[in-house]
Amino acid sequence: MPRSTSPNPVTTEPEESIEHRIRTLLDQMTLGEKIGQLNQLQGTDGPASDELIREVRAGRVGSLLNQVDVSTLDELQRIAVEESRLGIPLLVGRDVIHGFRTILPIPLGQAATWDPDLVEAGARMAAREATSHGIRWTFAPMVDIGRDPRWGRVAECLGEDPHLASELAVAMVRGFQGRELGAPDSMAACAKHFAGYGASEAGRDYNTTNIPERELRSVHLPPFRAAVDAGVCTLMASFSDLDGIPASANRFLMTTILREEWGFDGFVVSDWESIPQLCVHGLCEDGREAALAAALAGIDMDMVGRLYEQHLSTLVADGALDEAQIDLMVSRVLRVKFRLGLFEQPYTDPSRRLATPPASHRDLAYQAAVRSAVLLKNEGELLPLAPDRFRKVAVLGPLAAEATEQLGTWIFDADPSLSVTPLEAIRELVEGEAGDGSRGEVRHVRVLETGRSRSQSEFGDAVDAARWADVALLFLGEESVLSGEAHCRADISLPGAQEALLRAVRGTGTPVVLVVLAGRPLALESVLDQVGALIMAWHPGTMAGPAIADLLFGHASPSGRLPMTLPRVTGQIPIYYAHRNTGRPPTPDSFVHIDDLPRGASQLSTGLTSYHLDTHYTPLFPFGFGLTYTSFRYRDLAVRPTETTPDGSVRVSAVVENTGTRPGIEVVQLYVRDPVASVTRPVRELKGFRRVALEPGESRAVDFELSAHSLAFPGRDMNQVVEPGRFDVWVGGSAEASLGGSFTIVDRA
Ligand code: GLC
Repeated sequence: MPRSTSPNPVTTEPEESIEHRIRTLLDQMTLGEKIGQLNQLQGTDGPASDELIREVRAGRVGSLLNQVDVSTLDELQRIAVEESRLGIPLLVGRDVIHGFRTILPIPLGQAATWDPDLVEAGARMAAREATSHGIRWTFAPMVDIGRDPRWGRVAECLGEDPHLASELAVAMVRGFQGRELGAPDSMAACAKHFAGYGASEAGRDYNTTNIPERELRSVHLPPFRAAVDAGVCTLMASFSDLDGIPASANRFLMTTILREEWGFDGFVVSDWESIPQLCVHGLCEDGREAALAAALAGIDMDMVGRLYEQHLSTLVADGALDEAQIDLMVSRVLRVKFRLGLFEQPYTDPSRRLATPPASHRDLAYQAAVRSAVLLKNEGELLPLAPDRFRKVAVLGPLAAEATEQLGTWIFDADPSLSVTPLEAIRELVEGEAGDGSRGEVRHVRVLETGRSRSQSEFGDAVDAARWADVALLFLGEESVLSGEAHCRADISLPGAQEALLRAVRGTGTPVVLVVLAGRPLALESVLDQVGALIMAWHPGTMAGPAIADLLFGHASPSGRLPMTLPRVTGQIPIYYAHRNTGRPPTPDSFVHIDDLPRGASQLSTGLTSYHLDTHYTPLFPFGFGLTYTSFRYRDLAVRPTETTPDGSVRVSAVVENTGTRPGIEVVQLYVRDPVASVTRPVRELKGFRRVALEPGESRAVDFELSAHSLAFPGRDMNQVVEPGRFDVWVGGSAEASLGGSFTIVDRA
């Protein structure tokens, strides 16, 4: 199978040499040793058990995950290499999702940077830290498309849009795997969870997904395809049931699409016990049947399910499974191990294990935290806060001084002692290094034990502090535990008494700035009018404090843009920009709000279009939206040529101008619509973006090469098709960009 052309030279060893070594090794392996390579076991926090040592020595373990104790890791690797019969090294995996010791913003926050270079640099940094502790495989990037913020795992995803998620998936794969996969500071990446996990019904984790093939191919698969084309070494199967066939037994996904259509030659690992769970789904009667179903579907490695270990040899003996299938699975695992250079360098250089990561890592984490923050409201240019005008600063709320909570989900290896909290950074900035209050004064009131607390007993202190202050900075949102795997919410408004706290503080008349730390978009319509300024900071990671303080006081400027639509209320979900039009789209004049219905209103007194009576049909803030400390204007959109062919392209250009008084970074976005096609198409689709830094008064022409191929979609027969006809384009600063134009694709003839 031809290997996908990766922009990454993934290994120094020639491919033909690796293939030869795979065949040579396979010829020497017993069936038991082959099955051992397909078996991944849980590691240990301390010394290895005798059983694990025996398993490794016998060649019955191909991979360990969560092997936290490094000396034990080294010892187990030594046993595998020097004491097992064939000396095949272990592949050690870990969830290095957004950093290892130094923590970057959660992936959803990194997606808000719209900065592939920064995201790649962050993954590179994480790889350097993790590989120094013996980890050579990360279970990242998570590239599930997230359109339901009730789902806790949107924290780990790269947003709602296939184009943005694809660009950032490639960046993460390149960062983790490095320019040379065989280098000791590179680690295999793992695109997960294949596929469609983000469509879990009701935003409940592990829930059923029912995704029509056209939506699967148009929305959920593109980021995985991009990762495969970028040379990702592995994929992980999703837990979820896809239209009645769980991913871990879904041959259409794991073989037809992944192998036959895409030519992927790495390996697929199940998710945690997702193979035994086939019995819980109700697809398989017992472990033996589950092992067979997964192997035949194309799951190469069993993550801690131990069913391959238990059943594959008898399945082969009984003739239910060919040993050739086992050889194919093993060859994929060995290919990754050879490409990683594990046979040449199975051990980690202890001198690379730094007790404290270099300061450059924290600098990068700071940059990422600054660029991930999205400024959503800034009434009367309240921000940035002028220190001479805002000398008395009240810092309020349960998330202003939480070194661990600000890190977000998936932070098992983090070092919270490296964290700088918003309170620490604001104190340093306002009160000066001396802390003598010469320059300003900060008063901090936590008010709530946690963001979920309902007690209002401390409100008085908060109100007093707000009355005293020139500005009240509220840090509200979600602790880390409210997002991530299995942590879903049926109501995504601010938890606990936080809204009540906000109203109490607002009642003092002191200007209020709300900084939201959360692992998901929150429904904030009910608080928006309570604040002068609003920043969505996600979970910003180790350097949350300096980043937020610098943004608040103007030492940095916000440039983040929403990677997911922000709903007004939970009931709007799913709400995303790239929706289809319906036959009765809502319009301003067809919308009648429930409060405006007169007594005795008749059935036909409301507009018969697609909206909710009790909430406006638009989001609170659209995909791609974010304010800066300046303003931008777009003009002179041009599309050349105005006609092209299905294998041609057009150039879309527009001029963007900084019309404000401060420098700023605009994320220029290109959207396209195919208004008439053989299947209905989204009202807009992102097809390009560019971060552009402009000084006050500066203008810049930004242009995008738009290939007709990029407009292809799965036609009536599910094959990718580019259809002739008119296409509309827009260029602007969000999915609601208004500067538009059009072009036509004409038949080749
Ligand atoms: C978890 C997650 C998966 C993770 C794996 C190993 O259940 O679903 O994303 O990589 O198990 O921790």
